[in-house]
Amino acid sequence: MTGEPIIVARGLEKIYGFGRGALRVLKGIDLVIMRGEMVSIVGPSGAGKSTLLNLVGCLDHFQKGSLVLMGRDVSHLTVEDLAGFRNRTLGFIFQQHNLLPEFSALENIMMPLLIRRERWHEARTAALAMLEQFGLSDRAHHKPSELSGGECQRIAVGRAIVGKPDIILADEPTGSLDSVNSRNLTEILLRLGRERGCTIIIVTHDKSIASMMDRTISLVDGSIQTDTRKPE
Ligand SMILES: Nc1ncnc2c1ncn2[C@@H]1O[C@H](COP(=O)(O)OP(=O)(O)OP(=O)(O)O)[C@@H](O)[C@H]1O
Ligand SMILES: [Mg+2]
Repeated sequence: MTGEPIIVARGLEKIYGFGRGALRVLKGIDLVIMRGEMVSIVGPSGAGKSTLLNLVGCLDHFQKGSLVLMGRDVSHLTVEDLAGFRNRTLGFIFQQHNLLPEFSALENIMMPLLIRRERWHEARTAALAMLEQFGLSDRAHHKPSELSGGECQRIAVGRAIVGKPDIILADEPTGSLDSVNSRNLTEILLRLGRERGCTIIIVTHDKSIASMMDRTISLVDGSIQTDTRKPE
């Protein structure tokens, strides 16, 4: 940890709907996450974990409070600036891998680099190196439908990490895997993330996954209930 705050949320509120039907899903979240921290977010279903992750990932807007990522107040970015900022700064991994079905494993990993207009050859080299790390070189040209669930999730990790984003956000990334595959995937994610200096936030129901992280934040009914760091 370098001591530099990378995510600073102040009084963050998310409200769905209007008037009597309004639902206050996040009730004033204050949160500071430092560069390089490995954080898990836990809590009961409906607590607001995915909502919080989506706000931090600039995938959704909020009604009150402020959110500063890497020193930039993201609520004031234009749509175009936000798209570029997201591509460079954030990597996402979802519960279902969300790979593009018509593209191969290799092409899926290359995608974030191609979107930011890196050269095709360089994107390919970087993606092939990722596949090698995962032991999936011989699956490079397989489409997601020709891969196992665990293999797809590894490709999704590759896609999230290949562009060396500052922040990786993962929402139940091991939700569809058995416990051995879950642990393996999380180990790969943490190792690659550490090598690249990424900050990683994982939403998980799995206590053994949460215990692999440096810090665990528990969210209950839209508020942070506990925030504990592992002793160094
Ligand atoms: N688009 C929406 N419109 C209205 N309410 C919503 C919407 N999306 C989510 N909610 C509500 O917001 C609350 C928080 O949802 P969220 O998906 O963040 O929970 P979660 O903690 O991720 O739960 P889970 O562990 O089940 O994934 C829930 O009560 C949900 O019903
Ligand atoms: Mg959720």
